[in-house]
Amino acid sequence: MEVGYCEESKMLQLTTQPAAEIMFHNQYAFYSSTSTSMERHFEDFASSVVNSEYMQTRGPFIVELGCNDGILLKHFAKRGIRHLGIEPSENVAKVANGHGVLTISDFFSLDIAERIVNDSGHADFFLAANVMCHIPNIVDVAKGIRSLLKPTGVVMFEDPYLGDVVAKTSYDQIYDEHVFLFSAMSVQYLFGLQDMELIDVLPQKTHGGSMRYVLSHRGAYPIKESVTDLIAKEKLQGLDRLTTIQTLRANVERSRDQLVALLKTLRSEGKRIAGYGATSKSTTILNYCGIGTDLVEYISDTTPIKQGKFTPGSHIPVVPYETFRSNPPDYAFLFAWNHAEEIMAKEKDFMSAGGKWIVHVPEVKVL
Ligand code: TMP
Repeated sequence: MEVGYCEESKMLQLTTQPAAEIMFHNQYAFYSSTSTSMERHFEDFASSVVNSEYMQTRGPFIVELGCNDGILLKHFAKRGIRHLGIEPSENVAKVANGHGVLTISDFFSLDIAERIVNDSGHADFFLAANVMCHIPNIVDVAKGIRSLLKPTGVVMFEDPYLGDVVAKTSYDQIYDEHVFLFSAMSVQYLFGLQDMELIDVLPQKTHGGSMRYVLSHRGAYPIKESVTDLIAKEKLQGLDRLTTIQTLRANVERSRDQLVALLKTLRSEGKRIAGYGATSKSTTILNYCGIGTDLVEYISDTTPIKQGKFTPGSHIPVVPYETFRSNPPDYAFLFAWNHAEEIMAKEKDFMSAGGKWIVHVPEVKVL
């Protein structure tokens, strides 16, 4: 995996990626509804759309790209609001349909957008969460969004934020599915090409630091101060310069060396280490740092489709959560660090029995 940075578009991105069909299919392993805090987050997201200052009609049409198991759209379905989900991974799309969320299983494109307009009309809101950063042909997608959106329509999408990755050295946000790490500057550039503009930005706690971007056709709404403020902050942070990304690389290398040294020291003292959460992010950590079963015995995960499998490349067994309960390690490596609050609250027994946590973001340490 290789990362590039474009000084014109200010985009940090992978330079090569597996074909989409290899990643998003009928055995897609991530179900959004596995975390209670994410459930709450999407309920709040839905309420903020329903009560939005951009809501122009009592009967809106809401389209979501990559609706997964319907974690967001189900709140519109419940309210009887006209909606449509587009989800390429058939297994999760099926779960969404089962929740009463109208979902088609396909990859979004300009073509699909035109079909939706023909069948159902233009959209009032176009939503996406942790999806836009997965799509390599983003310019075609932006064209599709533009043609699908009403003149007064609004786009709201959120993804892990480059500013947080740079500030926290959270380099595990870089993995095969995440082709882009966005900033306000790169989103503004991308949609500017389609005569659209960024009108608001709202920082989110999810995924260890995300940003919600609000966009419309150019001139449809005033641009909020939040946008100019964030862009000024991004320039101060250096997100418009390659040198910042080179510093990030040095920080990543230091973080890797500290992590491997810590794991090796603990193992040499005879301590047992297991992983908590077989996240996509963990694949980057394990392969980049060269961590295998010599250092991490197993990884526990609550997602049934991941259990009984092995981590890609490093071949660490992924086991059900019950194994963590019945056979706890001395140290749990918190690969799902973005869910730390929820997990720590759940694992009081592990901690009171002397169990410790290893975290690597924002710095490598034992908790
Ligand atoms: P994410 O960081 O991409 O949201 O993935 C979180 C993974 O961690 C997902 O596979 C579910 C798993 N998980 C657990 O095993 N236990 C938990 O308590 C939580 C919150 C997540």
